[in-house]
Amino acid sequence: MSAVTARLRRLVAERLRDRLGVHDDARLPRIPAEGVVAPDVVLRRYRPEDADSRLRLESSPGLDRWDARCRSATTRAEFDAWLAEQQRRYAAARGPCSLAVCAPGAPDLLGDLTFWRLRDRWNSVELGVAMLPDARNLRWVLATGAAVVPWLHAQGVQRVEAHHVVGHDAACFVARAGGLAVEGVLRGVFPQHAGDGTTRWLDACAHASVAP
Ligand SMILES: CC(C)(COP(=O)(O)OP(=O)(O)OC[C@H]1O[C@@H](n2cnc3c(N)ncnc32)[C@H](O)[C@@H]1OP(=O)(O)O)[C@@H](O)C(=O)NCCC(=O)NCCS
Repeated sequence: MSAVTARLRRLVAERLRDRLGVHDDARLPRIPAEGVVAPDVVLRRYRPEDADSRLRLESSPGLDRWDARCRSATTRAEFDAWLAEQQRRYAAARGPCSLAVCAPGAPDLLGDLTFWRLRDRWNSVELGVAMLPDARNLRWVLATGAAVVPWLHAQGVQRVEAHHVVGHDAACFVARAGGLAVEGVLRGVFPQHAGDGTTRWLDACAHASVAP
């Protein structure tokens, strides 16, 4: 491809992103190749070896409380397609993108941390976290919050946010422990689909940490 064609393609892509409201300023911080490394936890990019654990995580209890709109992946082919998309997002530093939560020096997946880039707010990132059932109640989630929130602020993120269904006490505790104070209640945020085809909209508790 000639330099002129490449430049033209970049310009068209930038223009399209602009029309879609995806601005460079709204990019996520670039995830380092070695991941976000803290004394108690490592948050790294997903790899093909994570397939089985990731599929187990997606169908684990409580995930429907996290995001009722998500349909869990159940096959290796679905995981491969998801991983390919994650890799594109890592390269472009765009969200939503997910990181594997691991113990330092151990490759096994313990849980997931997902970043959503918030398009309509300057420099804000929303977090979601989920642990594999056998990694729950072991404070990995607290280590994850303690590592990621200061890292995001150090990368220049102004607001780090998290939302959970009102009444999800564990999520509320974990968010507050990570320094995300409660800001209030957002009414009718999470859809809950009943078997009879009706939808109930659940309120969300909004948390955030603001850059020091
Ligand atoms: C929510 C979730 C991430 C919590 O992870 P976890 O490993 O079970 O959390 P831990 O047991 O290590 O608990 C962390 C702290 O929360 C506290 N906690 C746990 N459940 C609680 C509850 N129902 N009420 C109050 N505090 C609670 C624990 O006491 C612990 O604090 P401590 O160590 O000081 O005692 C995990 O249960 C999960 O993956 N759930 C499914 C996905 C989800 O709901 N994600 C959250 C929405 S973003």
